[in-house]
Amino acid sequence: DWTPDSFVDETVQALKEQLKDDKVVLGLSGGVDSSVAAMLLHKAIGKNLYCIFVNNGLLRKNEYQSVLEQYNGMGLNVKGVDASARFLDALAGESDPEKKRKAIGHVFIEVFDDEAHQIEEVKWLAQGTIYPDVIESVSATGGPSATIKSHHNVGGLPDFMKLKIVEPLKALFKDEVRRVGASMLMDKNLLGRHPFPGPGLAIRILGDITPEKVRILQEVDAVFIDNLKKWNLYDSVWQAGAILLPVNSVGVMGDERTYEKCVALRAVESTDGMTADWVNLPYEFLQKTSNEIINKVKGVNRVVYDISSKPPATIEWE
Ligand code: XMP
Repeated sequence: DWTPDSFVDETVQALKEQLKDDKVVLGLSGGVDSSVAAMLLHKAIGKNLYCIFVNNGLLRKNEYQSVLEQYNGMGLNVKGVDASARFLDALAGESDPEKKRKAIGHVFIEVFDDEAHQIEEVKWLAQGTIYPDVIESVSATGGPSATIKSHHNVGGLPDFMKLKIVEPLKALFKDEVRRVGASMLMDKNLLGRHPFPGPGLAIRILGDITPEKVRILQEVDAVFIDNLKKWNLYDSVWQAGAILLPVNSVGVMGDERTYEKCVALRAVESTDGMTADWVNLPYEFLQKTSNEIINKVKGVNRVVYDISSKPPATIEWE
């Protein structure tokens, strides 16, 4: 019978035998899969696991710092690389969703390759690939592995892609990954995190990306997510986030007319991201959240709630 405890024991033992004294590099995304994969490898080979966590400047508010601290607290050998400026430069002026994804994928590969080169005699690339990723080309969890897969054929294979691959979660479904993480006593907040796309807020800012738009969306998203947690709604929602629309609308603030940005909130129920229903969030929650966003976030004067299901609407707007 499959149990998380026996999976951990057997996998750690198998990884020890397979990897011996070899060095392994792994890209952490902040998500569940890469984090659980890292923890298993850490148990097996300790400091020979070199984790890299890249800040692409498109993460949630304060996410880079807080997740990096969390990884350090777990005892992982992790290096944080803040490459925000490189990503934002590569995205400047770009509005096409697929070109944005490609630009982010390219920069990620360059940054990761540079970092991997600094690890002497690294032999393996570890990935948090789970069973559904093996069948689907787009990973719902959006880890670096998804980025790599969809971009590795652009401009030749980077050196780290020539490493031997180790994927300890390849046979597991998401709920099993969470149970494996729980059996290793990993933090509940980390294991319960909503999926977040690899290109991050870039595909939730419709149109071109500027540092100011990233700031606005991070603030809006933080209010929405914090409120979901405060209202105990976070765990019953599969994924939630905010979208910055390329629309200004007229508002009124005191005696002044305003002409400012509009944001959409999206929260869905799903099992695998392939189909999804919008969540019937309480009106009172929406009312409080909308007021808080408009009062707190400079540059936003209108909030709408997305009531479209997938199909035909996708979860993300780009
Ligand atoms: P859609 O918008 O296709 O999203 O309904 C389904 C799931 O996939 C995530 N998603 C992505 N993840 N890179 C990723 O790593 C991407 O380019 C990407 N696009 C969508 C989305 O967040 C949802 O969980």
